[in-house]
Amino acid sequence: MTFCLTVGSVRMGKMHNVIAEVVENRPLIGGHFLLDLYAPRQAQATRPGQFAMVRLLDHSDVLLRRPMSIFDVRPRAAAGQTPGNGAAPEIIQLLYKIVGRGTRLMALLKPGDQVELLAPLGHGFFEEEYLPIARASDEVLHVAGGIGIAALLLPSRQVAKAGLRQRLFFGGRTRDDLVGTEDFENYVGEIVLATENGSTGHKGFVTLPLEKYLAGHQERKFLLMACGPWAMLRATVALAERYGHPCLVSMENRMGCGLGVCLGCSIRVEGTGHAAYERVCTEGPVFCAEHVIWEKEEIPKI
Ligand SMILES: Cc1cc2nc3c(=O)[nH]c(=O)nc-3n(C[C@H](O)[C@H](O)[C@H](O)COP(=O)(O)OP(=O)(O)OC[C@H]3O[C@@H](n4cnc5c(N)ncnc54)[C@H](O)[C@@H]3O)c2cc1C
Ligand code: FES
Repeated sequence: MTFCLTVGSVRMGKMHNVIAEVVENRPLIGGHFLLDLYAPRQAQATRPGQFAMVRLLDHSDVLLRRPMSIFDVRPRAAAGQTPGNGAAPEIIQLLYKIVGRGTRLMALLKPGDQVELLAPLGHGFFEEEYLPIARASDEVLHVAGGIGIAALLLPSRQVAKAGLRQRLFFGGRTRDDLVGTEDFENYVGEIVLATENGSTGHKGFVTLPLEKYLAGHQERKFLLMACGPWAMLRATVALAERYGHPCLVSMENRMGCGLGVCLGCSIRVEGTGHAAYERVCTEGPVFCAEHVIWEKEEIPKI
């Protein structure tokens, strides 16, 4: 049975490399931050599920750009004002978590500081590919693990715009990992939370309430869209297969260039020879789940 979507000649947003000004860098709980960057051309070119590469200036020890999903794009409001409806987006918003040197330095950014921003990048959740399947489904199920939530807000807005039902399953280690949910409230019918320590929502992995939902509604058709750590994606894909639903995954991998040149972000996909590898930065980050080889390769001992 194949659910693979046809990835044809899709329209990518035009990529730009600019020095972008920090408008705001707001701390949230659990070492998460919301970073607003003034980048009108990139904000207007962004499509759901795409990402940006951020380079910190003046830090020669953090040479490589860091990949970040584009969480949101929004108009810039003048001080004390709300932007008018329909105003063009000028802000690229990134939702990030401190995990190492680069993100620790990002957390120190203040309004008026600058970063180098290469965006928008990658093949995201593109409506011409998934909307026909979403329309033929009863509901779109977004499944997020931790900071994977950052890839799903723009797709959920797009699904809402198409007038389709949707639900978000969101899991983390503790309640401090479950950030950004209020932004989804306008778009999704229900938000189902899970934490490994039971501090909020279901106790355990997010795939537990997901499985319960799929098992309880076997007569319905769903489209799954997932982003999170490898193990969570793999478990989600296994559930999608077991219950017979199409699934799109937004993958993460270490990245060097973000432009398809270094091949550092390649993952194993169905195929042979060169066709057995695809780049997360270019062919992805969004893939049809069936196309990805989920068994990790053994690295040969030398
Ligand atoms: C397409 C894509 C989208 C992403 N979107 C977001 C986002 O929206 N918000 C966010 O906070 N993070 C996101 N990430 C992960 C983010 O790029 C890394 O957390 C960041 O580069 C770490 O930089 P660092 O210098 O702080 O940590 P480092 O010192 O480089 O690494 C610290 C730890 O993080 C792990 N790590 C580093 N890079 C990655 C990576 N790419 N994938 C998985 N683990 C990694 C390392 O193995 C190490 O354990 C995304 C990654 C990709 C590929
Ligand atoms: S990061 Fe260089 S090819 Fe993807």
